[in-house]
Amino acid sequence: MITVKVARKVQEAEDICTFELVDVTGCPLPAFSAGSHIDVHIPNGLTRQYSLCNDPGESHRYLIGVLRDPMSRGGSQGMHDSVHEGDTLHISAPRNHFTLAHGAKRHLLLAGGIGITPILCMAERLAATGSDFDLHYCTRSKARTAFLDRIQGSGFTHRAAFYFDDGEGARKADIPGLLSKVDPDTHLYVCGPSGFLEFVIATAKSNGWNSANIHFEYFAPAAKPQQAGAFQVKLASSGRIIPISAEKTVVEALAECGVEIPISCEQGVCGTCLTRVLEGDIEHNDSYLTPEEQAKNDQFTPCCSRAKSSILVLDL
Ligand code: FES
Repeated sequence: MITVKVARKVQEAEDICTFELVDVTGCPLPAFSAGSHIDVHIPNGLTRQYSLCNDPGESHRYLIGVLRDPMSRGGSQGMHDSVHEGDTLHISAPRNHFTLAHGAKRHLLLAGGIGITPILCMAERLAATGSDFDLHYCTRSKARTAFLDRIQGSGFTHRAAFYFDDGEGARKADIPGLLSKVDPDTHLYVCGPSGFLEFVIATAKSNGWNSANIHFEYFAPAAKPQQAGAFQVKLASSGRIIPISAEKTVVEALAECGVEIPISCEQGVCGTCLTRVLEGDIEHNDSYLTPEEQAKNDQFTPCCSRAKSSILVLDL
């Protein structure tokens, strides 16, 4: 855990604020790479993940961008309404589940809305290393386009295309057209709302893109039907069997029995609760594991995932 101070809070675009975080003692912050995120412990008790969107070469600050989500369960509203300049916050060290494939010859970056935060960091990194890339950034309107000036004032503005749903300069991105050319040396990176992300991934795959060349990061859980049936989990170390009712998550049911699993997002996004499964069929409801990882049926996120079988044996 790192204690940081909010050095600056800026209204970056409509409903989007950036927070510049510095170490309270003035020490350098841990290094990070493009695509990294941190856990932010919000004063209201919630923990949320935010991508770092400053230059990875900087060690004196972390910059995060936060969209006020009207469907917020308290995270983004807590950041917008309760966190001010001069406040202290507790954060985790950066982690990266959305890394650049530095060996690739070309990179195609697609951002939807606030999904620009890790994508911008990647674009700046690729520009700094002289890599070949293009950035396509889709938002609802120019007023809701964070970092517009930063991108237009950058040395890679000729590589960036903006798409607005409404208002001045409105035009739609031709995603199928962008993904029509399949090149094994090109890697695709996409971040944004679930619908945008799922459309981009599905289009790329249907056009024949290799899954290994498709990199993505969810900001919110993918819309998936929740299995609400009851089942049991067995703890392999003790043989203890714990019933999971339809109303409880595995994490909640285990906590009531004194078995604590570390959690953070509680939405299947961050992977903090990842737990090995030794037996049983998993119903994956997360956005963290890749389809290939889910198909292995050997780990799950008990904050939201459940069982297809009557029992799951957990490596606990
Ligand atoms: S707590 Fe984030 S995936 Fe379970």
